[in-house]
Amino acid sequence: MPTLCTQPSHLRPVPVSTFWFGACYYPEHWDEGTRREDAKRMRDAGMNVVRMAEFAAEVLEPAPGQFDFRLFDDVIEELARHGISTILGTPTAAPPRWFTLAHPDAVQVDARGVSLQHGSRQHVSQSHPEVRAYSQRVTRALAEHYAENPHVIGWQTDNEFNCHFSEDHSAAAQTHFQEFLAQKYAGDIHALNRAWGNTFWSLSYGDFSEIPTPREQAPTHANPSHQLDYARFLDWRITRFQREQVEILRAFQPKWFVFHNGCFSKIDYRGEFVRDLDFLGYDSYPFFSWDVRDRGAGHAFNLDRTRAWSGNFIIPEMQSGPGAQSSYFHDTPEPGEIRRMTYTALARGADSLLYFRWRTCRYGAEMYWCGILDHDNIPRRRYEEVARIGRELKKVGPEILGTSVQMDVAIALADYEAMEAHATLPYGVPGLSNSAETLHRWFHEQGYACGCAHPDDVLEGLSLFILPHWEVVNPAWIPNLKAFVERGGTLLIGARSGTRDRNNHVISETPPGVLAELAGVRVSEYSRKNIPDQRPWQLNWEGEHLVAEDWVEILAPDAGTEVLATWTSRHAAGTPAITRKAFGNGQVLYAASGLTASWIQTLGPRLCEQARLQPVLPGCPPGVEVVRRGDPGKTLWFFMNHNDGEVIFKDLPAGDRLVGPENDTLDPNDVMVISASTNKVPD
Ligand code: GAL
Repeated sequence: MPTLCTQPSHLRPVPVSTFWFGACYYPEHWDEGTRREDAKRMRDAGMNVVRMAEFAAEVLEPAPGQFDFRLFDDVIEELARHGISTILGTPTAAPPRWFTLAHPDAVQVDARGVSLQHGSRQHVSQSHPEVRAYSQRVTRALAEHYAENPHVIGWQTDNEFNCHFSEDHSAAAQTHFQEFLAQKYAGDIHALNRAWGNTFWSLSYGDFSEIPTPREQAPTHANPSHQLDYARFLDWRITRFQREQVEILRAFQPKWFVFHNGCFSKIDYRGEFVRDLDFLGYDSYPFFSWDVRDRGAGHAFNLDRTRAWSGNFIIPEMQSGPGAQSSYFHDTPEPGEIRRMTYTALARGADSLLYFRWRTCRYGAEMYWCGILDHDNIPRRRYEEVARIGRELKKVGPEILGTSVQMDVAIALADYEAMEAHATLPYGVPGLSNSAETLHRWFHEQGYACGCAHPDDVLEGLSLFILPHWEVVNPAWIPNLKAFVERGGTLLIGARSGTRDRNNHVISETPPGVLAELAGVRVSEYSRKNIPDQRPWQLNWEGEHLVAEDWVEILAPDAGTEVLATWTSRHAAGTPAITRKAFGNGQVLYAASGLTASWIQTLGPRLCEQARLQPVLPGCPPGVEVVRRGDPGKTLWFFMNHNDGEVIFKDLPAGDRLVGPENDTLDPNDVMVISASTNKVPD
């Protein structure tokens, strides 16, 4: 039942009717006897799917045009005998050596002009015609061969586009960039010169063929409009590269689902890239947060950010042991931790999940990247834990499918253009994702049902929506924001918002430009605060005092706009710092400063009061992550204990306990899932 993701939304469930649970499997690393035993063990662990072949290019095509599918044919059959289906990956992230020998110029070139080379992965350029031809050829051969194989259920395109490297300044990329620009500006070079503001520093071009990709050694800063179009180009070219594969796969077998495993830079996961797919995958490795105190919040944020792009997702790779590459070695997950992380992923939008990886490989650059089984192939506690999850998912998996994650507060995210525009001129303030993470973390730790959403997504059901510091605000989103506020929502807008247009030029109107009517303020002066304690700008919100950290503004409120907080120092003294404008049944707050960690720490409680926001389960023990997923008929309550000690609940929602202990005590790392038939929180 695959359905194209033509309308990405944080509420969109993954269109699958089976909860897929399994592992990434690399049969090319193991002998036949081991492979037979693997299929049986996977079944015993409750698995029903594997993902394979994304790095097996040389096994599948040992010499140009000579395909050999025997290994995968056998493995797919053997797995199927044990009830396990297969997802295949198009093997284009690491083409064989014969390919780069034949086409030495088909590699990517970095911003310093250094060419990548064979010997690792992700070295070839998606702009090079031979790479695209190779990609189509191998995809076609695989699709044709497996089109009628009932055990192959879907495809992953490539593997983690841009996970190591996202820019490309090769000759092929230069030409491709020029082609993109000629299309975008309909062949009118003057339109490009105007859109880029090329009269500044005499940068005008006479023809599209003259335009280089923006490189570091320019020798100083490149034009931000040029950079923004380059970011748009990088997304465009990956989208086209992927589309060439997707079209082939769909032509051979329309029943297959097709997804990609993200999420990395220079791709718009809400744009055409994802609209060509059935859904998005997100590879989850929470142990990249070294500090255990950050790990839970960081994991939650990454999942929520993924959902903001296009909705629920699958996890094609979930951490199942410590990971290691040459420069790091993760701590090992403690007993119960894989299970707890898995339930966080399920709670926050995963509609299927595979672990990376079935067994730890004994060689290669990731020989210490530990999977479910160790190098010696002896099942130990990680296998037992995964098998326990497998048993539980028989019950929970079907309940999850079709439900959406419920939020009360969302922070704006998932707009490629706004994020990339900021990245062209960050002037030392946090990027859009960093700001969102800071705010998200506070709401998460205080037990609110928080997440992220695009400003043009469904905002119904939210009490509070925060648009932190988006310089570029597309005027097309304003009606949605207005409707949200008119219905009774609270919108909080942070400083610097709406100050640039989609060409990445500063607007001619007084800020916040297209947001001014909603905000009810005009910004008459602004400043970076480089050292907050020097000449401090102090703010007072009914007795809560705060020194602004990274940015300050002086506001002129419109008639009817209320002043909630005031600056009390320097030349801003007496002017508004936080304002409120009533709008329909709701309100718009504007904060004339950076919404930093100390800002939300100090003013968060007052903000929640203003927005009438309640924690998701008042009275819930601290350190327990609570998330609701639901559909019109039921709410699934997920509880994950992140504490080192046990917690005892007083008021749990009534309902069927699908997973968890019989009493109301959760041990460290333990989890509980309750299915309730209404949304009602216990009084
Ligand atoms: C992912 C990647 C896998 C493997 C894993 C562990 O990012 O898709 O192929 O490299 O990380 O490093």
